[in-house]
Amino acid sequence: MSSGGLSALELFAGIGGFSVATEGFTDIVGAIDMSSHTLSVLRCNFPETPVIQRNVETFDAAQFEAMGAKLWWMSPPCQPYTVRGLQKDLEDHRARAFLHLVECIQEVRPWAVAMENVKGYWDSQARQLLARTLVDLGYEIYEEVVCPTELGIPAKRERYYLVAVSDGLAQGKVKQDVLYEGRQHELVEYLDDEDAIKEDLYISQSTQDKFAHAMRIFDRDERGVELNCFTSAYGKTFRYSGAYVRERDGRVRYFSSEELLRLLHFPEGYRCPDELTRKQRYRYIGNSLSIVSMKFVLSRVPGLEALGDQFF
Ligand SMILES: C[S@@+](CC[C@H](N)C(=O)[O-])C[C@H]1O[C@@H](n2cnc3c(N)ncnc32)[C@H](O)[C@@H]1O
Repeated sequence: MSSGGLSALELFAGIGGFSVATEGFTDIVGAIDMSSHTLSVLRCNFPETPVIQRNVETFDAAQFEAMGAKLWWMSPPCQPYTVRGLQKDLEDHRARAFLHLVECIQEVRPWAVAMENVKGYWDSQARQLLARTLVDLGYEIYEEVVCPTELGIPAKRERYYLVAVSDGLAQGKVKQDVLYEGRQHELVEYLDDEDAIKEDLYISQSTQDKFAHAMRIFDRDERGVELNCFTSAYGKTFRYSGAYVRERDGRVRYFSSEELLRLLHFPEGYRCPDELTRKQRYRYIGNSLSIVSMKFVLSRVPGLEALGDQFF
């Protein structure tokens, strides 16, 4: 398994967004998540990775330390900080695992800590607590909110990122001034071939009429679009999440799970186990990460620049 890369722990691993974004650069010494379904996707694409289905709260600092990871990556539940949630922040029971990890970080002091969350996390007590803890421990921290639309991708996913390094981010030389100058990608580049669209993706006219006010529909060939963020609610409700495609024959449909993975810039061929239903796929992919945004953020940190060589 070891390839001499940076040893990393992938906490709240989900379908493995961190593994994908840092492939070839990190050795994942443990990918931990409590959901067996979401981990089944990671397992199927990274059969070598030690995958642990367990609540992170059940690990103590010594057990984390024994895993020997230099970098701890965390992608904790976002519900405590989402605009549509109750925003109970640290009072939310789903923030308990995060709080536990803040304590473990103080004991273990890994070389680096990095995380991702929704934009609402920026104003949270959780952020204040972690940032203050890291600074008090002597880490240099780098924080940024990035949306893939700023990087030429036609789908929104505005997210908060943090990278903290204990021996200094090369004395504060984080490349804050790097501007992305790549090209604008168009929607059609991410779509399945028209003749390969599965029938069950199409939406009946009566459903379209009923939810016309809530559905954002884009023509296959429309240019310069910004799709709404595909959250885990896509496929469950027509409100608040994602968008729909109008094919050239006028029929309207859901995006396929392969198209959602493509929009996040997972590699072609990243697959979900056959037994997962379409709604489960939407849910787990909707919880995952924009690979492009992550590579962008990580590559701005001295020492991790190599990640930036592989944006697209
Ligand atoms: C925002 S998602 C992270 C998704 C991940 N970054 C990816 O690429 O798919 C949060 C994940 O944390 C998991 N989770 C939530 N609470 C947990 C806990 N206490 N222990 C372990 N996993 C947990 C959920 O099952 C979910 O997969």
